[in-house]
Amino acid sequence: MIYQQLGRSGLLVSRTCLGTMTFGNQAWGCDADECRQLTNAFIEGGGNFIDTADLYANTASESILGTLLQDHDRDALVIATKGWFPQANHANARGLSRRHIITACEASLKRLKIDTIDLYQFHGPDPYTPLDESLGAMADLIRSGKVRYAGLSNFHGWQVVQANEAAKRAGITSLISGQYMYNLLRRDIERDIVPACQSEGLGVICWSPLASGFLSGKYRGREAPPPGSRFDQMGKVLLPRFWNEHTIALVERMAAMAKELNEHLVAVALAWCLAQPGITSVIAGASKLHHLEPQLRAAELNLPEAMLAELNQAFPCDRGYPDDWFQVAGANTFPPEYIRQA
Ligand SMILES: NC(=O)c1ccc[n+]([C@@H]2O[C@H](COP(=O)([O-])OP(=O)(O)OC[C@H]3O[C@@H](n4cnc5c(N)ncnc54)[C@H](OP(=O)(O)O)[C@@H]3O)[C@@H](O)[C@H]2O)c1
Repeated sequence: MIYQQLGRSGLLVSRTCLGTMTFGNQAWGCDADECRQLTNAFIEGGGNFIDTADLYANTASESILGTLLQDHDRDALVIATKGWFPQANHANARGLSRRHIITACEASLKRLKIDTIDLYQFHGPDPYTPLDESLGAMADLIRSGKVRYAGLSNFHGWQVVQANEAAKRAGITSLISGQYMYNLLRRDIERDIVPACQSEGLGVICWSPLASGFLSGKYRGREAPPPGSRFDQMGKVLLPRFWNEHTIALVERMAAMAKELNEHLVAVALAWCLAQPGITSVIAGASKLHHLEPQLRAAELNLPEAMLAELNQAFPCDRGYPDDWFQVAGANTFPPEYIRQA
């Protein structure tokens, strides 16, 4: 396993992170026994970074993980969780208010049966709460020893910068991570979010790096997802996001690449993510034990340059304006043969 510092922090995390959104999910996840096997195999395989959220399986994911952690050296692990989604039926049980962040974090600590959360993440932005209030609450959680590092998820690039400024005002050195959807088929974050994270010193952790399983090749040769599968049950969101003739063609091409490398498609898809600028770890999801092996191998897989170049060309991020303006105007204003970068 390869470990990398998370953002501009000293925290070393495995490049493959174990995602636990499947834990306790009765529709398309895994039962307690499978969760145990997955967690054990992940840790035995050198993984130290585990991500959960109070949202997952209505808090069952955190509770299952909390029980499983009892069998392991907790100090050797980096436990990450998130709060933001509604946790009760009243107005204040959601978002990033001081009131909710502290309540949600304390509830997560109890379910996880640990004293400190290594990485506490805002699961999304709150349009109503001032960022100084949210980051002030996060700073208090850190000072009280309940949280070690702070991160965020699903914020726009400009919100990342604002949140990090508020973190510094609150006395937190810096936020250390941003958790975002990123895979070969959806590269939106390259436009503004990755540059914002890089300039602010946040490492990027990718969710759905396999496009919710589409890039594993499990739907190859099918006209539609099989009944009961995750793509069947969550078809409204996942089909328009990931399933079309172009993405199907890419999976076929990737399968040929994987064969050439004597590797699994999953390892190729994750290795591509890990080779992109600013990316620290991939949060791979798994519902079966056998899913894990290629995910762990991906952390050490370097794709040949020609394959990387071809995959980069497949679904490039449309950076749009003002990027295209700068390509032209910037090249004339700052000619590289005339100005040397320091
Ligand atoms: N911050 C956020 O808003 C957010 C949102 C979503 C997820 N997340 C985090 O990201 C993690 C990963 O998300 P994700 O589940 O969407 O990730 P993903 O890696 O894109 O998809 C995981 C799914 O791919 C399939 N798969 C994985 N390995 C496989 C293999 N070797 N062979 C065949 N199929 C394989 C499985 O699908 P089947 O189970 O269908 O077999 C598995 O559940 C979550 O657990 C969670 O921690 C965060």
